[in-house]
Amino acid sequence: MSNYHIKHLEEYYQVYRKSVRNPESFWEEIAEEHFMWRKRWDNVLDWDFSKPEIKWFEGAQLNITENCIDRHLYTRGDKTAILFEPNDPKEEAEHITYRQLHERVSKFANVLKENGIKKGDRVCIYLPMIPELAISVLACARIGAIHSVIFAGFSATALATRVNDCKAKMVITSDGSYRGAKTIDLKGIVDEALEQCPGVQTVLVAKRINSKINMKAGRDKWLQPLLDDAYADCVPEIMDAEDPLFILYTSGSTGRPKGMLHTTAGYMVYTAYTFKNVFQYKEDDVYWCTADIGWITGHSYIVYGPLANGATTVMFEGVPSFPDYGRFWDIVEKHKVTQFYTAPTAIRALAKENLDYVTEHDLSSLKVLGTVGEPINEEAWHWYNDHVGKKKCPIVDTWWQTETGGVLISPIPFATPTKPTYATLPMPGIQPALMDENGKEIKGNQVDGRLCIKFPWPSIARSIWGNHERYKETYFSAFPGKYFTGDGALRDEVGYYRITGRVDDVIIVSGHNLGTAPIEDAINEHPAVAESAIVGFPHDIKGNALYGYVILKETGESRDRDNLRKEINQMITEHIGPIAKLNKIQFVPGLPKTRSGKIMRRILRKIACNETDNLGDTSTLLNPEVVKEIMDNVL
Ligand code: WTA
Repeated sequence: MSNYHIKHLEEYYQVYRKSVRNPESFWEEIAEEHFMWRKRWDNVLDWDFSKPEIKWFEGAQLNITENCIDRHLYTRGDKTAILFEPNDPKEEAEHITYRQLHERVSKFANVLKENGIKKGDRVCIYLPMIPELAISVLACARIGAIHSVIFAGFSATALATRVNDCKAKMVITSDGSYRGAKTIDLKGIVDEALEQCPGVQTVLVAKRINSKINMKAGRDKWLQPLLDDAYADCVPEIMDAEDPLFILYTSGSTGRPKGMLHTTAGYMVYTAYTFKNVFQYKEDDVYWCTADIGWITGHSYIVYGPLANGATTVMFEGVPSFPDYGRFWDIVEKHKVTQFYTAPTAIRALAKENLDYVTEHDLSSLKVLGTVGEPINEEAWHWYNDHVGKKKCPIVDTWWQTETGGVLISPIPFATPTKPTYATLPMPGIQPALMDENGKEIKGNQVDGRLCIKFPWPSIARSIWGNHERYKETYFSAFPGKYFTGDGALRDEVGYYRITGRVDDVIIVSGHNLGTAPIEDAINEHPAVAESAIVGFPHDIKGNALYGYVILKETGESRDRDNLRKEINQMITEHIGPIAKLNKIQFVPGLPKTRSGKIMRRILRKIACNETDNLGDTSTLLNPEVVKEIMDNVL
């Protein structure tokens, strides 16, 4: 009997125990019964966290798009695979059936091949949430090219850094994008970025907003005519289990963004399995995840996980506030959405608006609600539960990361009793550990510590692209033999986990991970700035907002402070993107430093959060006098 679909709590515990006692036979059984393989594996798992090296289903051959598309053609050919809801509600929604998806992916794959893309080549995708985004991802996977989707809110500099890091030969973009009432000139951003990317040979351009753009001769090509001429069948490339599937960049606490590398078979098995269980997906359900495919949530739970299960997955191009704050609920009603998955920041923003936006829509189709990306506060949880779920829909608070590929800790709806702000229990196969600062595991319940995972699961990232040493250093060196998540967590009296937040210098703003170092680097490029330090402080919608402490050079002292603030945020927008803008900027004469010259962010964080009763011992600082000065002028 397969353990693919868990339906009640007792079954969860049984399956969980089995998955921990014998992970290999557990995952082998699931892989065997629920997927299409061209060749069976020789070995289920080979791992060594000290190298680190992790291999799942070695020897197996497959193509993930055969699993996500082809095998459904016999039974679900006319079922909607992707339901595209455009930015403008007056534009008609598009239902793309599995058969149509097969044809569109095949054509796109043939266009990639005709433009010189082969197995192993990197293709960067910089597109809005239009069907071409999902289709181009799948087209890459069809031919074994490694896709790297770059969120279309990133700036030209951020795009260029990523394109160069993975040495992409091709960029796929569109003329522009719609975002509520605005349009964004995506192609202009690509043109600017590519001035710094000599390795890019081809740019494929989808038409979305019909704007006038420049097409660089010999490099830029309109996508549609190429698709019109392409052959509608494309034999899938046969991939080895551990062949790379994609690279997705995530912020580190220091340095350049990390290109997390995910491979084929394990990623497929784990995302499909968790999709089925975390959302209790049933054949006629209409599942909607509001994330952007530019983030891991979109990769795993808009594209791969749902399609591997033959699901109908909604793709929404727009924003929750356009044409008004009822848009999400309008879409739920219109498409009779059964599972709805979003971020706490969106819930908090919508909870601030008039409740009529919710109540005037029929939300009775909903069965399961989900959240992801940051801790959900109690108030937002209750609002979601009371007004959206009408107290009938379990909320799955899913904890996971770009690095983990899929959900690691989450309730299983209708099985695990939920508890506000708790991600609750580990998924089968996941062995969490809480560690103390001396590197010892803290056993028992009602404890808290740093969250590690003791044993590999199939969708763990295998490396950082081009920098395996950094992968080892970041995730496997703090607690040897374990994967370190960078998060803190507590375990309550029944063994439920609650994620308390990052313990490193990553700040989560509106669900986006932002490293402090890259933002500080951007600010320091301003000619009037000598030095800066960024910390997070609580914000009622974004979860966290950014507070910057900036030391000016002498030349900057006479400048108007508000203009400087604008210029600094402009600098950040250009280097990273508007998501990293600072909410508050305080100009300071110095930053509190240890005697070895390290900035004491802990103190700066407390000042920004107004927690100054308990600053701790500041006497050992190099410059204790600066602390009072900063406190006196806090914003
Ligand atoms: C945070 C998103 C609390 C966490 C899938 C993690 C969460 C980081 C939750 C990864 C949650 C994600 N509760 N915190 N349910 N989900 N996080 O890589 O700090 O964009 O390490 O992956 O988001 O963010 P990422």
